[in-house]
Amino acid sequence: ALQTTGCPVSANAAAFDPFTGPYQVDPAASLRWSRDEEPVFFSPELGYWVVTRYEDVKAVFRDNILFSPSIALEKITPVSEEATATLAKYDYAMARTMVNEDEPAHMPRRRVLMDPFTPKELVHHEPMVRRLTREYVDRFVETGRADLVDEMLWEVPLTVALHFLGVPEEDMDELRSYSIAHTVNTWGRPAVEEQVAVAEAVGKFWQYAGKVLDKMRKDPSGHGWMPFGIRVQQEQPDVVTDSYLHSMMMAGIVAAHETTANASANAFRLLLENRSVWEEICADPSLIPNAVEECLRHSGSVAAWRRLATDDTTIGGVDIPKGAKLLIVTSSANHDERHFDNADDFDIRRENSSDHLTFGYGSHQCMGKNLARMEMQIFLEEFTKRLPHMELVPDQEFTYLPNTSFRGPDHVLVQWDPAKNPERADP
Ligand code: HEM
Repeated sequence: ALQTTGCPVSANAAAFDPFTGPYQVDPAASLRWSRDEEPVFFSPELGYWVVTRYEDVKAVFRDNILFSPSIALEKITPVSEEATATLAKYDYAMARTMVNEDEPAHMPRRRVLMDPFTPKELVHHEPMVRRLTREYVDRFVETGRADLVDEMLWEVPLTVALHFLGVPEEDMDELRSYSIAHTVNTWGRPAVEEQVAVAEAVGKFWQYAGKVLDKMRKDPSGHGWMPFGIRVQQEQPDVVTDSYLHSMMMAGIVAAHETTANASANAFRLLLENRSVWEEICADPSLIPNAVEECLRHSGSVAAWRRLATDDTTIGGVDIPKGAKLLIVTSSANHDERHFDNADDFDIRRENSSDHLTFGYGSHQCMGKNLARMEMQIFLEEFTKRLPHMELVPDQEFTYLPNTSFRGPDHVLVQWDPAKNPERADP
C-alpha cells in the first residue's frame, strides 16, 4: 500500500534490497507482495524500476527497441582508476557481443551465427558431454560422499563450453584457469584493493583469448562456434567483426559456464529435497526432459535480467520515463499464479513448464538453451542410473553469492552407501 507521505515510493518498494535478506533466500517469494499489489515499482536503493509479473516481464522482453538490452551486463560496482589502468595495460577492449547489442547490429549477426546451436548440430556434442559426465562421476562414485558443485557441476559446463567454442585441447587448461579466476573474483564482489588483482586476471584472460583466436584463424576449418564465426567473417566482415570475435571468445565461455553450472546445482538441490520426485525420475527417465524444464522454471539460475527504456512508455499501466533502467525479475514471473497454476508447487508433469522466462524471450532469447538442456538432461540421466540412492547431506545450509541475477548454491553436499551402487551388482 502506498504511504501517505506524498512520496511515490511505497514502504515495500523502499525496503527492497536484492543484495541481502529474503531476495537472496528466495527471490520469487520475496516479491510476492509486488506481484499482488505493486507489480511495477521504483527501487530507490537500486535506482531501477522493478517488474515482477509474468505478462509484464514478457512484454518487456518482446520489444527490444523500446526496451534496449544495452545495459544487460553493466557493472553495478564502478571500476577503480587503478583497475582501469591495469586493464589498459592488457589492451582490454571487451565490446558488445550479442546479449547487450542493439539493432540493427544484433539480428543479422545472430542469424548468421545460429547454425551451430540447432538441434541437428548439437547432437554431435552429446557423446562428449556424456563422456565428461561419466568421467567425473567415476572419480567419486565409490567414495560415498561428494560436493556436486566443487567436484563436477562447476567444471563440466566449463569444459563443455570450451569444446563447443572449438578451443583446441592444448589450450583448455590455461583458458579454464583464467576463466575460473575471473568468475571467482568477479563473484566475490571485489573490494577496491582486490580490484587490481581481478583486473590482472581479466586482462590475462583477454590476451589469451586473443591468442587462441589467432591460432584458429590460421586454420579455421575446425569444429566449434568460434571457427564457424571466423568462416562467416570471411563472407560478411561487417556483420562478424574482429572486435566481436575477440569479445565473444571470452564472453561465450562465461555465458555458457556459470549459467549452466548454477542451473544444474539448483536442479539437484530441488530434486533431492523433493525425494518422491527424485525417485519418480529414477524409475522413469522419460520424465527427465520436463523435469529439467520445471527445475528451470521453479529455480532458475538467472533470477533477473536488465533493459533500458529508450522512450516514455507504460508497463502494466505504470508510467515509465525514457532512460529508466529496468530490473525484470524472471524468477518472480516464473512463480506468477496468473500464468502458472499453483506456481510454487514443484510439478514435473506441469504442461506449461517450458513457458518459463529463465532463458529470456524474443529476439535475444538464449542461443545456448538447447545445449544447456542437453547437459542438464545428461547429468540427471547419469546420476539417476548410477546413484539413485544418493541423498542430500542432512542439515546443510545452502549459501548463495549476493547479486541480483545469477543464482545457484555454492555447494551441494550429497552422500550414499557405495555398497548399494547399482553398478556393483550389475557392472
Ligand atoms: C542469452 C540465460 C546457457 C549463450 C541469454 C539470456 C539469458 C540466458 C537470460 C538473455 C536473454 C534475453 O535477453 O532475452 C541462460 C541460462 C543458461 C544459459 C539460464 C543455462 C541454464 C547458455 C549456454 C550458451 C549460452 C550454454 C552457449 C554458448 C547465450 C548467448 C546469448 C544468451 C550467445 C545471447 C543471445 C542474443 O542476445 O541474441 N542466456 N543461458 N547460454 N545466451 Fe544463455
